[in-house]
This record gives sequence, C-alpha cells and structure tokens, in this order.
Amino acid sequence: MTHLQKKIYYHGCSLFTDKITDMKSLPRIVLIVLLFSSSTVFAQTMHTAASMKTYIDALMKKMTVQEKIGQLNLLTPGGGVLTGSVVSSDVETKITNGQVGGLFGVIGEEKIRAAQELAVTKSRLHIPLLFGSDIIHGYKTTFPIPLGLSCSWDTALIKQSARIAATEATADGLNWAFSPMVDITRDPRWGRVSEGSGEDPFLGSQIAKVMVRGYQGDGLGKDNTLMACVKHFALYGAAESGREYNTTDMSRVRMYNEYLPPYKASVDAGVGSIMTSFNEIDGIPATGNKWLLTDLLRKEWGFSGMIVSDYTSLNEMIAHGMGDLQAVSALALNAGLDMDMVGEGYLTTLEKSLQEKKVTLKQIDDACRKVLEAKYKLGLFDDPYLYCDSARAKKEVLSNDKRVAARFIAEHSFVLLKNNNQILPLKKSGTIALIGPLANDKNNMLGTWAVSGDPQLSVPVLDGIKNVTGTNTTILYAKGANITDDSILAKNINVFGLRADIDKRSPDEMIDEALKIAQRSDVIVAVVGEASEMSGECASRTDITIPPSQKKLIRALAKTGKPLVLVVMSGRPLVLTEENDLATAILQTWHAGTEAGNAIADVLFNNYDPSGKLTMSFPRSVGQVPVYYNHKNTGRPLVGDNFQKFRSDYIDEKNTPLYAFGYGLSYTTFAYSNISLNKTSITTSDKIEATVTITNTGNFDGEETAELYLQDVIGSITRPVKELKGFQKVFLKQGESKIVKFIIGIDDLKFYNSDLKFVAEPGDFNLFIGSSSSDNVQQTKFTLTK
Ligand code: NOJ
Repeated sequence: MTHLQKKIYYHGCSLFTDKITDMKSLPRIVLIVLLFSSSTVFAQTMHTAASMKTYIDALMKKMTVQEKIGQLNLLTPGGGVLTGSVVSSDVETKITNGQVGGLFGVIGEEKIRAAQELAVTKSRLHIPLLFGSDIIHGYKTTFPIPLGLSCSWDTALIKQSARIAATEATADGLNWAFSPMVDITRDPRWGRVSEGSGEDPFLGSQIAKVMVRGYQGDGLGKDNTLMACVKHFALYGAAESGREYNTTDMSRVRMYNEYLPPYKASVDAGVGSIMTSFNEIDGIPATGNKWLLTDLLRKEWGFSGMIVSDYTSLNEMIAHGMGDLQAVSALALNAGLDMDMVGEGYLTTLEKSLQEKKVTLKQIDDACRKVLEAKYKLGLFDDPYLYCDSARAKKEVLSNDKRVAARFIAEHSFVLLKNNNQILPLKKSGTIALIGPLANDKNNMLGTWAVSGDPQLSVPVLDGIKNVTGTNTTILYAKGANITDDSILAKNINVFGLRADIDKRSPDEMIDEALKIAQRSDVIVAVVGEASEMSGECASRTDITIPPSQKKLIRALAKTGKPLVLVVMSGRPLVLTEENDLATAILQTWHAGTEAGNAIADVLFNNYDPSGKLTMSFPRSVGQVPVYYNHKNTGRPLVGDNFQKFRSDYIDEKNTPLYAFGYGLSYTTFAYSNISLNKTSITTSDKIEATVTITNTGNFDGEETAELYLQDVIGSITRPVKELKGFQKVFLKQGESKIVKFIIGIDDLKFYNSDLKFVAEPGDFNLFIGSSSSDNVQQTKFTLTK
C-alpha cells in the first residue's frame, strides 16, 4: 500500500470506502503493512507546511461543525491511569461519533491500539486519536523526580532521560507527553516543586529546551519520538502561600524576567503543545486568558503548536467566577485555547455559542486545525498505528539498558549537603545499621507523578546496599519509625495506594529496636524523609520538616554518638535545620526512581562521587519562604549575617537559606583560581570570555559544576543581586586542574525593562564564578559601553 493509498484509505473512506468499516476485515498482509510501516519517509519527504495545509484543508472540507468540535475534546476513559477527580463517560460511543480528538490515561499498546482502531474504522472520517500521558520523569522505567534531575546540572543526561522515556512510551502506543513542567518554583510548601527544575529561570530554560528536544528527537513523525507539552502556562509555580491551585499575582516585569523564560525557551525549542495552568493571571484564569494565549504566546512568541487546557481547568472557570459552562467555554475559545481536557465544555456548548454568535466558525476551525496539525506532524494520518508495535513494546519497556541508565542518572541527581569528618564514602566492610521507614521500602522510590511506573519493580535501599557491598559488610536493618504517626496525614497521602503505613508496634518499640542495632554497628545510615505523595499535585504542606515520628528517631540515633548518615528522600526542599546539627552527613536523594536503592548505594560507597547541586534553596525555617538566591537588594540590605535594626531582616532568623541554590559537596574538594576576562569592556556587538582554573584538591576523582553569575550593578529598574548566566560540569582526576571558559554575549546582559523591552543597559557588571550561589570564590567586573 503506498502512502497515497493509505491516505485515501483513511480519509477517502467517506467517498468510496464505506465498505471497509472494520480493520479486521482487511487482508492480513495489508494490516501488517499498516502496522509496521514507518511514516519516517513520509515525514521526511512530504511533511512540509504546504503539504500539511493541503491535506488538512481537504479533510476539514469534509468535516461537520460537530466533528470539528469533536477534535477539540480530550478525554480520559478511566480504568488506566487516574490523574484527576473526574473520569470521562461513554468514551467508546463518543469516539465512534467523532466526538473525541485524543485520549490520555490509557496505558499499554494493546489498549491504545484498540481505541485507535475504533477511531479509524468506526468514526465517519476515520481520524486517528492522539494518545497522551503524564510521562514526567520516565515512563515505566522511572528516573528521579524532575527536581532531582535538575540537580545533576547535566543537560545531556536530562535530555537522555527524556529520549529514553520517549523511546519506551512510544513503543507502548503513546505519542504525546504532558511534560516538561517548567514552572519556576520558589515556595517549597507547594507540592509540585518536585515536578520542575527549581527556582532559576536560566537553568530552568536550559533544562526545558533539552527536555523538549529529548522527547521530540530530531522531528515528530518517527516511531520513537513523541510530542512534548510544556506546562503549566503560566506562573503556576507562584501560587500564593504555596497552596495548590491558589491565585497568583505578579508584576509584568517579574513575570517576563523571572517566570516566563522557561516557557519561552520551550517554544523556541519547537515544543509541539502547551498546557494552560489552573491559576489566574491578572484576574483572568489562564485557560480563558486572551492576553496570555493569543497576545503573548501566539503573537509575541510565535507559537504555532497546539494549546490544551489542564484537567477541567476550563470548567473550573465557573468556580473562578467567570460565568456558566457555555460562557467559560466561549471565553476559552476566544482566548485561543484549542483543546479542552476532560471537562467537555467545548463539546457540549460550542455549537450553541456559534449559533448565538458568541464564537465564530473561524475560531472553531483554527482550533480544529491545530489538533489536526499535531496528528499530521506525528505521522498519524499516514499510519495511525505508528506507535503501536507489540514487538517494540516487548523489547523497549523496562529493558535492562534503560534500568542501567536510570541508575546512572539517579546517581547524578543526589546532593551531598554535609559530610563531617569525611564519614562518606563508607567502606565496604564492618557493620552498618540501616534504619528508617524509607530504608526497605518500594512504595516510595519512584516518587510522585510516576503514573505508569510499578513501585514493586523498584530497588529499595537495603537491596541496593547489599548489591553494592558484597559479603564483607554486615547490614543490620530496622524500620525505626513510621513515615508519619499521624493517621490523617497518612490517609491523605495514600490516595494512589499505600505510601505510608502505620506499624502495629508502638513508636517506642520501633525506636528501641533501631537503637539496639545501632549500638552493634560502626555507622548508622538512616533513610528518612517524605513519602512520594507528600509532594506532587495537591500535596502542599505548611510544615516542611521531616515528620515528628522520624525526628524522634533521628534524635535518638544521634544520642548514640555513632556516626550518623542521613539519606533524605523528599519531593521538595525540607527544613533540615535540626538534622544539620545532629547528623554527621546528609545525602539528599529526592525520590530517585526505579533504581533508587542501587544508585544510593553507589554513592554511599563511592562507585560514584556525588556531584549534584541544589536548584532550589533549602530554608532554615518555613517562615523564610520564599527564599531564593536571585532576590533584589532592597533599600536597606542586611550586611553580614546578624540582625541589625532598620535593615531588611528577621529578629529571630538569618536571611540566608540553610543550603543555597547551587550548593552541593563532593567527596573530593575543588579550588578555584585565576579568574580572568579577555577584556574589561565590551560593546553591544561583542562577546566577553571569562576563564577560571579549577583544581581537584581532594582525595578522589570527581565532577564539579562551575557556576557563573552576573550582577547588573545599576539599572533602569532594580536588578537582582546576582543571576546565573552559565554553568559547566567538568570531571577532574585527583590533583588535576582544568581551565574552564565561559562566553558571555549581549543577550546574557539583557532583561525586560519597565516597557517590557528586552534591553542591555550600558554600565558595570560584576561577574562571579564559584561552586554555588553563596560561594562565588572568584570575582571580577567589566563594563558594557554604548
Ligand atoms: C492535572 C495536572 O495539573 C497536569 O500536570 C496533568 O498533566 C494533567 N492533570 C493530566 O493528568
């Protein structure tokens, strides 16, 4: 069957192939050609904007208004992955009636094939469906939560994680990932900080770009690339008081300079789709916000992909106080929203709004075209089963090479926060007391938003340590405490299955057992922190400390006087002030995915020297929140650490975080020297080259991320005290030195001024290079001249 014949089959049916109503009635050989043909050739030879337009023009001529509206409807049928409180009904009938553009939450090649078959054989125009999913940090092979991934500061590795996820998910039928989540987050009370890349717009933008490229590969329409969906547009990470789904409000200057860059970077990287957020912006919910979706995204940024709402976010505009379902659906379409997720506001009201002239046919056509274009780019018109290949699914899903990659990537995401007396790395000998509710746990290793992952296939820390240490080490294990003793909290976090169980033994009995093994050991490793669903969607916390049950355990362990290594798992920066005083060492491992236990053991025993650095500041107390490194100076900045009356500070707390953005230790040490610039003044058409020497001065080989920050000393608007503008990760053998070079161009000096013009203003710039935002050991300056 040629490509042309296939096209006629799928879209010419209305003219002359009504007889072919069932795929099963096709000759087997035709089916095989259909199943195994790749649209790569098609994508490469015919996938031009002009051919797409011709194709879609012809298709849309055949479509009724109802069928066009049907394409705007994205449903989740239930029975698969559940990521919201509503499940769509009568999905099969709706598909047959041409009332569905895509599905999500359907997992598995067979199920997807069956749904696709329904669409392409039973609906009048045989239009294939999109199949989306929350592929957030891996598909079935799960990588560390995105906040952890970002702490690797390794864009090549992060891209690889997205590439692997795409390969695995497309083998299992999916063609659309609801990722990357690029919301800038400064408030660790918000549970969804786990899904993003932290607080910095520059780093966040670099990560957003590589994730889009990782998912989309070198082009859509191949059987191992899928369409990315950047979310949540926009400003979702700035929810007031860190409370889920709460209001956001900020100045345009802050928006443009601090919150919008990662979304824009994704658009510039060619992301295929974008998801609106639940929050309002300037008083209008994002899903119905014309300024956001049309003026900014389409006109200013030139986004040409598809815009989809979040889960019922269209309907939720009723609760926001924007009108009834018909009104908010019209509002969304007028604003520029193409596809409506789950709520069926478009499906049930747009026709009426059209008759009443509240929306136009052109608006419906434009939205429908965007959905059809996405399908065309994905190669679905050429071969609706392009992503359904059971042989590929068998080969790719959870394959050994993917697990190996997951382990390697996880090792790079851990951040060593403290290491007194070089207690780490541990020796592969002696007796280790492994204690804690997360030490022998599978339920929490994958982390939040691992909707397709099977927790039971993950490696607990106990197994990982046994795998890595061999027979020379004695491992004694005790649970020591519940994740939480609070049954109400446990119930709230057990919504997707058991994450926090409450032991039948009393807390004191568990602590006693732990103390007994601690006494018999050379070192204690306590694995503590949050259950996976203590972060993620709708998992905001007002108290971001380690839960009291575990704190009690940690205090008791510290009292033994034995070296105490804390392995902290969490989906957010926690307040670790007390633990920082009590523990000998702290390794922050987030929720590290399928290979968590092996990766943690690798780092504890120095199969890999930790190199992660924080991408979100860790507060000393929740009262400091939001605390972030690229803040403004204020008119009364505090100099030094101690309280001063009439300065911007607190009477009961320092201003600085406990661990700053960019901070992270290694088993070895690094020294920075010889910062130099190739010139001290540049013009707007110039570049400046900064170099610094980094030397591994410690006892291990290791990787160091050098961070470059700029400060625009005087501006037409107030400027941050410093901003990350470059980073490089280098591997240095013991004793080795390397010169690291950064190039700074004019765009690195630009910001949005009060007219929202992206400008670089002549004047002085301070330049810092160092190992964290709070440890800029090398400093120099240059001048931008007119
Ligand atoms: C709601 C979440 O906000 C979004 O991130 C997710 O992609 C959708 N549900 C679909 O599960």
